[in-house]
Amino acid sequence: MRVEWTDKLSIGIGIIDDQHKKLVERVNAFVDAVECRDTRKIEETVNYLIGYTIQHFGAEELIMLRNGYSEFKRHREEHNWFINAIYDVNKELLDQGLSDERLSQVEEMLAGWIVNHIQVVDKRLAEVIR
Ligand SMILES: [Fe+2]
Repeated sequence: MRVEWTDKLSIGIGIIDDQHKKLVERVNAFVDAVECRDTRKIEETVNYLIGYTIQHFGAEELIMLRNGYSEFKRHREEHNWFINAIYDVNKELLDQGLSDERLSQVEEMLAGWIVNHIQVVDKRLAEVIR
């Protein structure tokens, strides 16, 4: 299931919205790779997603820290949960590969988490920071 970018995903902070669009693109690249059942492409897109996730979460956390955002710790825990989930996926890929069933599960997890996190947790951050 690809994630379609709509205004509902916009939090109103230009720099973060641009990064979220890139993050969504990377999740969609993974979904496309899974659809092709192309193992090399799946590994590539997971790597690509890992790099951008770390970079983007770092940027958001910097904004939160600098502004003394009171929900920083809780927000960061959500980021950490996602990073741990991607770690597990990558580790499985490196160790034994993923079954079709697991790939579908991962696809749903990534897409679902991103949409929910942006619409709830990141929107909350934008409301307070603005
Ligand atoms: Fe966030």
